[in-house]
Amino acid sequence: MTMMRTHHCGQLSLSQVGDTVTLNGWVDKVRNLGGFLFLDLRDRFGLTQCVSEGESESLSNRTLQELKAESCVQIRGCVRARPQGMKNLEIATGAIEVLIQEVTVWSKADPLPFQFGQESSEQLRLKHRYLDLRDPSLRQRIVARSQLTSSLRKLLEEHDFLDLETPYLYKSTPEGAREYLIPARVSPGQFYALPQSPQLFKQMYMVGGMDRYYQLVKAFRDEDLRADRQPEFTQVDCELSFVNEVAVRQIFTDVVRRLVNGFLGRECVTDIPQMSFEEALHAYGNDKPDTRFEMLLQDCSELWRDSSFQAFSAVVAAGGVVNAIVVEGQAAHMSRKDLDALNQEALNLGAKGLAWAKCNGTELQDLQSPLKKFVDEPLWSQLQVQLGVKSGDLLLFCAGPFDLVKAVLGKIRLSLGERLGYMDPQQLKFLWVVDFPLLEQDEETGRWAARHHPFCMPQAQDLPLLRTQPEKVRACAYDLVCNGYEVAGGSIRNHDLAVQKQVFAAIGLSEEEAESKFGFLLEALRYGPPPHGGIAFGWDRFVMLMTACDAIRDVIAFPKTLSGQCLMTQSPAPVTQQELDTLGVVHRVTS
Ligand code: AMO
Ligand code: AMP
Repeated sequence: MTMMRTHHCGQLSLSQVGDTVTLNGWVDKVRNLGGFLFLDLRDRFGLTQCVSEGESESLSNRTLQELKAESCVQIRGCVRARPQGMKNLEIATGAIEVLIQEVTVWSKADPLPFQFGQESSEQLRLKHRYLDLRDPSLRQRIVARSQLTSSLRKLLEEHDFLDLETPYLYKSTPEGAREYLIPARVSPGQFYALPQSPQLFKQMYMVGGMDRYYQLVKAFRDEDLRADRQPEFTQVDCELSFVNEVAVRQIFTDVVRRLVNGFLGRECVTDIPQMSFEEALHAYGNDKPDTRFEMLLQDCSELWRDSSFQAFSAVVAAGGVVNAIVVEGQAAHMSRKDLDALNQEALNLGAKGLAWAKCNGTELQDLQSPLKKFVDEPLWSQLQVQLGVKSGDLLLFCAGPFDLVKAVLGKIRLSLGERLGYMDPQQLKFLWVVDFPLLEQDEETGRWAARHHPFCMPQAQDLPLLRTQPEKVRACAYDLVCNGYEVAGGSIRNHDLAVQKQVFAAIGLSEEEAESKFGFLLEALRYGPPPHGGIAFGWDRFVMLMTACDAIRDVIAFPKTLSGQCLMTQSPAPVTQQELDTLGVVHRVTS
């Protein structure tokens, strides 16, 4: 029997000229140029131009012409060099073509619901994701994902990581996000939960002496979805024994540096700088700073304390802050309408306003601003010096409670960065954010909760504050941030049982609750646990950044919509009463 395929569609070059070959793929395009009929055949490797010159017994140009785009065919033919002037240097196979001798139609395609390379509704594409996957742009991203995964595995294995599995049917142990529950048929009324992350299993691997674990693993979180969040997503989950924070960051700096540079083929990442959570919050307004551009948030509260502008001086007197950002060279470029839009954005985010000042020169008389009547010479010169203002700059001020001002100006900074073209997706700016607070307080209940998860180790020097000033305790935790996205997060864990118990107590877990939720952990910590720590990458986010996309569904083969639906399979979907009965699930039908 002859081979079903001798080559793929990205393979042939001048060295095969004269050979008879068999290709398979999808009809990309058919063009009839009177007498000549060109058929572009495409598979995942590339595209090959096939040509038919006139009729033969087994093959009529009409048959070929009637082939609809995206039909799946086999073509047998002879490779020949394209005539001079007809070569296409843009594709790998551009120097040759295949003179068609025989065509087998494996399956015909109906007219497609959308055209590749053209604008079409995302809903339609998601419904027919198998067709979208044939579109070279999505295909390239999915192939890139596979290449990155393969390089990542090699790098991790070079660092002695073992690829180990953990269960998906797990126990409900709230770690932050809401969980997906699975009824256990054989234990009516009881449930498994899908893991939000394999956190405790990887810690159990460390207690079990399986030093250096990694896994590309699905994590499940029933949370509100966004462009960078899916209900199931892939983590590169890692854990190591006998390491401190410095060692973990060093190893993963090496992995990321070599992965990124190898993939991009250029020295994009050399080292990864560090910034404390505190500094990130002050200068960027959030814990995942986009460091591709400056435009930092600057505190100028003290300068306004005694000013005649009530809106600001009253805020400062009440313990709030006034922050400014300097938008370089934009005084002449921002219209009144632009400034109103920014003000509206700030109002929508909960601020009382966003005051602007255009520095049309360096003198006070050159200042154009609704605040001008409140700014005297001394204030103006202090503002200029402290904020580093130059002629032509635009200043934006926001006053209010610290958290609000940081959040608002942090977002305004990003809107401006986007609008001014400072956020080039080809540029990748990685950063370690360190010294995170261990705990955070729920505004409504006043209760303390783990900011990351309750297994993070408190920094030793802060431990005495756990009872008295929990807000001051920092964790041995770190996030890897890139271009404003948190791409990975991790920490050193509590291998000391007493410290783990103190953390549970600090988040208000009674001994009984701790025992019922995490009894297996507490018990394991009695049997010689090693010092250990780790990290988990959001792999979808990482691949998204590496392929310069702005939503993780662009790098997920079968993603869900923002309402958590798979449009292709139409899930979630109702189940029969019988299925529910078997599972012992009582479902109250609401009509
Ligand atoms: P964390 O909760 O920070 O840490 O998750 C790790 C990384 O996963 C990514 N991520 C998501 N990606 C897509 N969709 C989501 N819904 C989503 N949620 C999180 C982020 C994040 O940095 N067990 C710990 C890790 C550890 O301590 O080792 C954990 O899960 O990029
Ligand atoms: P007013 O005197 O209240 O009309 O405010 C003058 C300018 O200051 C307007 O542009 C307001 O948007 C702005 N403004 C008022 N309160 C604040 C605030 N808390 N933060 C920033 N700008 C403010």
